[in-house]
Amino acid sequence: MKNDIDNNSAIAAEPWRIREDALEPARAFLHETLFTLGNGWIGMRGTPDEGTTGGAGQTLEGTYLNGFHDTESIRYPENAYGLARVNEFMLNVPNAKRVAAVVDGERFALDTGRVLAWERTLDFRTGLLVRTVEWETSTGKRLRIASRRLVALSRKHVAAIEYAVTPLNFSGTVRIVADVDADVTNLQAGDDPRVGSALTGPSLVEVAREVGAQDVLLLQKTRHSGFTLATATASVPSAASAVRVEPVALGQAFEADVAQGATFTVHKYVAYASSRDMRDAAAGPHARAEVAAARDAGFVALAAEQAAYLARFWIDADVAIAGDDALQQGVRFNQFHLLQSVGRDGRTNIAAKGVTGEGYEGHYFWDTEIYVFPFFLYSRPEIARALLQYRYNGLPKARERARQMAHDKGALYPWRTIAGEECSAYFPAGTAQYHINADVAYSIRLYLLATSDFDFMAEQGAEIVLETARIWTGIGSYDRKGRFCINEVTGPDEYTALVNNNYYTNAMARMHMTFAADVAERLRSERPADYARVAHAIGLDDAEIRAWRAASAAMFLPYDDDLGIHEQDDSFLSKKVWDFANTPKENYPLLLHYHPLVIYRHQVCKQADVVLALLLLSKEFSLDDKRRDFEFYERVTTHDSSLSSCIFSIVASEIGDKQKAYAYFMETARLDLDNTHANTQYGVHTAAMAGTWLGVAYGFAGMRLDEAGLRFAPTLPAQWTGYRFKVQVRGALLDVAIDATGTDYRLLRGDQLNFAHAGTPVALDAQRAHIRMENQQ
Ligand code: BGC
Repeated sequence: MKNDIDNNSAIAAEPWRIREDALEPARAFLHETLFTLGNGWIGMRGTPDEGTTGGAGQTLEGTYLNGFHDTESIRYPENAYGLARVNEFMLNVPNAKRVAAVVDGERFALDTGRVLAWERTLDFRTGLLVRTVEWETSTGKRLRIASRRLVALSRKHVAAIEYAVTPLNFSGTVRIVADVDADVTNLQAGDDPRVGSALTGPSLVEVAREVGAQDVLLLQKTRHSGFTLATATASVPSAASAVRVEPVALGQAFEADVAQGATFTVHKYVAYASSRDMRDAAAGPHARAEVAAARDAGFVALAAEQAAYLARFWIDADVAIAGDDALQQGVRFNQFHLLQSVGRDGRTNIAAKGVTGEGYEGHYFWDTEIYVFPFFLYSRPEIARALLQYRYNGLPKARERARQMAHDKGALYPWRTIAGEECSAYFPAGTAQYHINADVAYSIRLYLLATSDFDFMAEQGAEIVLETARIWTGIGSYDRKGRFCINEVTGPDEYTALVNNNYYTNAMARMHMTFAADVAERLRSERPADYARVAHAIGLDDAEIRAWRAASAAMFLPYDDDLGIHEQDDSFLSKKVWDFANTPKENYPLLLHYHPLVIYRHQVCKQADVVLALLLLSKEFSLDDKRRDFEFYERVTTHDSSLSSCIFSIVASEIGDKQKAYAYFMETARLDLDNTHANTQYGVHTAAMAGTWLGVAYGFAGMRLDEAGLRFAPTLPAQWTGYRFKVQVRGALLDVAIDATGTDYRLLRGDQLNFAHAGTPVALDAQRAHIRMENQQ
């Protein structure tokens, strides 16, 4: 990292937007991430319309399409059978949003002339990135350039820019160049495993280009994965009749004589289409048609559509916190970015960094199922379903992977992937995390509990759950004492690898196998034809279902009687405790300063592991268990992973440690806005963003949903005066508003909902749609 980079953001605390009011090149890299616009498919970093200035490491001109990737071989100087062979990585695609003002041959850029005033805002209700700048050319001509940008939430392929130039102290010729920058490449990875890819050189190879009076169509191909990308733009100047047009390499230059105080505007419409979604030959026409439709609608209508989309989103999703603006901003910022990042088409998912940067190469992890999924499940269940559909579509690849891993049946999901290949080149912290299978099953179980959508189970869910459950009987075995053991796996904690009987994995595998047996039996009795179809397709017989029940019943769950805690694995407690007292602050995260073996030899956790099991399998533990486990593992956890603090916050809430619950929550809620992990420039942390929602709903409001039903146990952090959120459960929309003394529950939609408040049963229906309950202290 260069010294002139400032890792702290400079964003004013406002509840519904982020705003900067000065141009600070040192913060550009970071702020570009924060100001990213996205729609679940397209992601455009918040770089200036005119393009970035500044070297690598100071800025990143990034445009991404969720799931649009190339592949590269993974080469191992020391090879071994079954290692991941192919890396899939998200490509940086042409920058089609580029528009720039030129006066007297001088092109506006952040490092030419003088910037006299600058403001940039991203508003969570309008979904617009608005930038206003006053610029003085080197000959003293002053201009105001106001731009508004959107990536259409209701049109997967579309983005639009309004670029308005006003001469402030002169009348004369203003030129606006609207073109496509196809000369883009991916960020180079250094030593940090969390940064970019190994790609060098241009990302895409040009196939054809057409440049018209207002239009551009660029066709390109990926180098290895064989996808076609079509990038189309249409640029429309205001007062078109008085404007001179000149084609440039991949765009147009528009020139007009503009009087002082008058404004010359160009609207630019952009569409991307790729052969991941359609036939090769269809991508070009599709991008063209999308651009034409956007141009016909016009910027104002697109902006109105955007605001309407977001209004609906916030009605269902908003978490309001009274008494802390900075926190409120953090919470909404996180929700907004989750919406911008999540794939909704069943072929894409949500990357660890969303569509905001190249960290983790656009890969999807278990972060989706365990962290992000509940947020969408309870606010946009159809998006949650699309995420599960993605896993269904990944079954063929997961079956192949299982065969490579010597499982004669079943499916093993990749630890990290885009299109289903296992892309983890470091198997101890990758492929070894077999818990991914149980994490997927867990989210399906939660989906079923929250929606009662058994159609989904019959169509797709059951097949996923059954195929993935088979892996446990494949890798597990009974020891001499008749205990079912799972050896040589890595749990969630990546500072401990390749262990026997990781508690989390065993407990989740038990849940998974029990659920699989339940699903099989329910499907057989309620939908025999579907059962017959699935059982036939995967060759499932009754003996297997009995084997799951038996293995679940005999599952070994390590527990240390002396300490009264659940052991993270067979060997964890016999290791030396990490010397925290003598580890300098700058040596965190440990993964950047110590060889993995050094870390693995110690009792030290990167993130919640047993503590995560306490949350996910809540009713399997007594409150005392939870207290002891929390206290023990807290002492040895560094929270070097951004997935950790939110889980500690929730469990702290449950065991009644309000101070810790709040402190851990605060670490999560503004993690990206305050760049506390010092790597937000490479992309936001979507799991932690969703962890913020979990911290409110599961943590402070004590929400749980399991076979026993839906329940809340609300508490109010001393720092707030109240908070409010909504959940959708089985078609009902419930508004939960907590203040110092009680909780108001309102049924906003749906006929009926039963739940418990601090142990007391509550039933709401159309006649009795509101109830106020007292909070337990
Ligand atoms: C964490 C994993 C996580 C990954 C992607 C790692 O640092 O340890 O649990 O899946 O980041 O977010």
